[in-house]
Amino acid sequence: MAEVAALVVTNIEQQQILHLATQLEVSPQKQQEYCTQAGLLAADLPVRLRGRIEEFFSRSHGSALIISNLPMGTVPPTPQGNSTHVGQGTLLARVQAIINQRLGSMIAYETQASGQLFHDLAPSIDEGSLQTSVSYDVELDGHTEQCFSPLRPDFLSLACLRSDPSAHTYIFPAVEITQCMSPDQRDRLFEPMWETGVDTSFRMLDQGFGLTATRGPISLLQGDYNEPFITIDETLTKGLTVESQDLLDLVITLYRERRTKIVLVAGDLLILDNKRSMHGRSSYPARLDGTDRFLLRTFIAQSGRAIEFAMRADSCVILAKYS
Ligand SMILES: [Fe+2]
Repeated sequence: MAEVAALVVTNIEQQQILHLATQLEVSPQKQQEYCTQAGLLAADLPVRLRGRIEEFFSRSHGSALIISNLPMGTVPPTPQGNSTHVGQGTLLARVQAIINQRLGSMIAYETQASGQLFHDLAPSIDEGSLQTSVSYDVELDGHTEQCFSPLRPDFLSLACLRSDPSAHTYIFPAVEITQCMSPDQRDRLFEPMWETGVDTSFRMLDQGFGLTATRGPISLLQGDYNEPFITIDETLTKGLTVESQDLLDLVITLYRERRTKIVLVAGDLLILDNKRSMHGRSSYPARLDGTDRFLLRTFIAQSGRAIEFAMRADSCVILAKYS
């Protein structure tokens, strides 16, 4: 089981971060201005936090980093689903943005949460049993975010406003796959022997954008044996042959046996490397009374310039036609 890098900020560091967050006064609706200001403030994050982020970048096998004891401010009641966008108004959202901008550039997607930078991850009664981020009745299958898209985020950032002790977040680094397989099996994972579907939420907005139902052929792993990139979705990815389906099943078995389980608590920020690890979530109970688990999800591109061509003018939103 992989160890997740962790940093608990001290009370003095918490006050320093709080001071920075109160200076982020731009509305998140002015996305570019908001991210620019957050990036400027990030230069003054506590040295120990900046150091841990640098370490996370430099470690080739780093799959996740969890930062705890962050200032939260007042937390509103947990909404139902992700349509009200209340989370972006919290102090923790500003803290998250400042730390995110130290890692890269925050990005949004036209197809996700109406192009907002912040996505409320809160249980939705309509999607309770679906494979979506706002489900709760079912385990969310192992996946990499937007495995079908060349413009998938490099990092996911999840901030916890309200915890549920029974909700586990699962993390599994790709490097463990190559370590657990025979050389022959490992080599096959780098060959294009799979295809993958496109997430329903992306196709729902397809108004002639050409978002095909399947993409491929793709390899499950890319890059170097010792620090591979991974592209996989337990729900969407299929083997093109009996052999490749068997290999996919083996990877999913490894994920289930060896994944790290984390319970996020209020004030935690979890950074996931979306290129080097897969993730998922357990089922958990929802009461739908304002006290349920409540996370803020954001996406980060390591290099904003590389994807500027795909963005809506004067925003950080990647247009659906490029997904
Ligand atoms: Fe995800």
